[in-house]
Amino acid sequence: MPSFQFQNSCALITGASSGLGAEFARQLAPHAKRLILVARRAERLKALSQELRQAYPHLCIDQKAADLSLAQEREKLAAWIEQEKLPLNFLINNAGLGDLGDFFHASWERLEEIIELNITALTHLTHLLLPALRKQAPSALLQVGSIVGFFPLLNYGVYAASKAYVNSFSQALHIEEASHGVTVTLLAPGPTPTEFFEQAARLGKKISVTSRAPACFITSQKEVVAVALKAILRNQAIIIPNKKLSIMVSLLRRIPFCLFQKFISK
Ligand SMILES: NC(=O)c1ccc[n+]([C@@H]2O[C@H](COP(=O)([O-])OP(=O)(O)OC[C@H]3O[C@@H](n4cnc5c(N)ncnc54)[C@H](OP(=O)(O)O)[C@@H]3O)[C@@H](O)[C@H]2O)c1
Repeated sequence: MPSFQFQNSCALITGASSGLGAEFARQLAPHAKRLILVARRAERLKALSQELRQAYPHLCIDQKAADLSLAQEREKLAAWIEQEKLPLNFLINNAGLGDLGDFFHASWERLEEIIELNITALTHLTHLLLPALRKQAPSALLQVGSIVGFFPLLNYGVYAASKAYVNSFSQALHIEEASHGVTVTLLAPGPTPTEFFEQAARLGKKISVTSRAPACFITSQKEVVAVALKAILRNQAIIIPNKKLSIMVSLLRRIPFCLFQKFISK
């Protein structure tokens, strides 16, 4: 079977209204035939669609405002794709939320939203749309996890655990789907300047990517997306889009938990 290419692809990007999702749309736009942009903020999707349409008149763009934490909205999206007979061959499960602070003081509504979006929505959309991806093979599925999914993380407990789920699930699917022509790649970014940190901050708190990580571990949105897209073409199972961070992650994964605990408690 020929390998997956971005040329003339039909890609669905969740969380396309900002950050990495919008950057995926920008970098795919010169190559893709159709982009389906999904997020809650309709006006942001509209602005991005206008920008891309002007630059790439050949491109067909659908804006779908949907709250993916709701099962009926996910089902509606999948039903629309089937009804329109869209030749979906690239799914980017990127939408995600965090919460920064200790578990004891977390709001249950926020934690539930994280679990519903980062775990349930990603799994449900994958389940709903994998038949379409197989049908259009060679296809690609990109699951956006995180480096924090490789370790337990203080003050990010539920978010890190939700990404541990994504990281594990994606690696299993990479193997399962190999014989069906669907390339499955886990993108595990480290700190990246996006709106993620202001969204994850609790009421009255201000956080930014630079307050959370040393400069050498911070990667730009452009770089994260460009490296991820290259990894898909190489059929890579996992991509950590920063070399220094990738080395640190592989070292930390090798040390016993008692030492790791000391390291993260500092
Ligand atoms: N930035 C980092 O340092 C970093 C590091 C590792 C992993 N990640 C992961 O990267 C992914 C993208 O995040 P980002 O950094 O680009 O942050 P971002 O700029 O905050 O983007 C998050 C996207 O998710 C969408 N979203 C949130 N709730 C949603 C819902 N209920 N339904 C549909 N869409 C929803 C948001 O759109 P609306 O608000 O318009 O719905 C937005 O487009 C996430 O999975 C995040 O966990 C980020």
